Amino acid sequence: MTRIFSGVKPTGHLTLGNYLGAVRQWAEVDQYRAESLFSVVDLHALTVDHDPGRVRRLSRQAATLLLASGIDPERAVVFVQSHVDEHARLSYLLECVATDGEMRRMIQYKEKSVLERARGGSVRLSLLTYPVLMAADILAYGADEVPVGDDQTQHVELTRDLAERFNQRYGQTFVVPRATPPKVAARVMDLQDPASKMGKSHESGAGIVYLLDEPEAVRKKVLRAVTDSGSEVRYDREAQPGISNLLEILAACEGGDPEAVSGGYASYGALKKDTADAVVELLRPVRERHKELVADPAYVEEVLRRGAERAREMARPTVDGAYRAIGLLPPA
Ligand code: TYM
Repeated sequence: MTRIFSGVKPTGHLTLGNYLGAVRQWAEVDQYRAESLFSVVDLHALTVDHDPGRVRRLSRQAATLLLASGIDPERAVVFVQSHVDEHARLSYLLECVATDGEMRRMIQYKEKSVLERARGGSVRLSLLTYPVLMAADILAYGADEVPVGDDQTQHVELTRDLAERFNQRYGQTFVVPRATPPKVAARVMDLQDPASKMGKSHESGAGIVYLLDEPEAVRKKVLRAVTDSGSEVRYDREAQPGISNLLEILAACEGGDPEAVSGGYASYGALKKDTADAVVELLRPVRERHKELVADPAYVEEVLRRGAERAREMARPTVDGAYRAIGLLPPA
């Protein structure tokens, strides 16, 4: 059976980008067709300046939102990365296979390290090695597929390279996975700045729709989205990035295709209104279910406890195998 692994990093409140690019696909499709693991990858939240209490709160919230989005813990394994030691154990071995040049070529490292330095901060070593930990997340479970948005496909490519290199040097150990981004909305852009990705750690929230935003806030953000000069509604990401982003969001909400959706609109106003309505309706059940789950923290905790137990059982044989293959003496 196909196995799937994916994760979300608790560095901020989950956004519409996270939902359309990843989480919705996990909940609506992936968990029904494959053996799936979905993780709140909290170790990754420590790679930039962080507040411990906030990371803890966001981790709990992200786990609750995965369940609120419809991920069924009877079908999929839902867990917190730091509860399973195998990730960190395997990450070190993969650091012995990866090179520093490979790490420095990662787009996210380049972007984030520039940002950190511009803020006057220093760059944590873990920011550089982050993609290796991500590779360990995936390879520990022998995942075949990794459903992620566009921004993570380079990391999955690196994961493939590391798996192949390890297998070649030390014998067949890892499954070589592939990224499976959604067809529509694999890169949702910021509504105020359609040249940049809608990201949870972006400075201003005006262009970001958060999953837990009230309907009125969602509506306002979508209606105020920056659009392009001209008035034609056309799907053209280069020439009309603002409108194309809205078309993509609307198409994703309706399960259609942005090009086809564009045909139905003669004005920006109507497109914005329909997009706002569609996003509000898309997020409504998630918000409602989240509210119920927040009232039952013991349930969420129990799901995470069982998830970690199951994840450990699944990861251990592969990680132990990698320890043996690379030449470490097994404990007596
Ligand atoms: P993260 O937490 O930034 O994002 C979680 C998922 O949401 C997708 N995503 C988007 N998709 C479309 N449009 C956007 N604007 C948008 N923003 C985010 C991301 O592509 C991702 O799929 N490194 C990962 C977390 C991670 C991981 C893993 C993922 C760690 N280990 C192993 C898969 C497998 C990250 O930072 O995702």
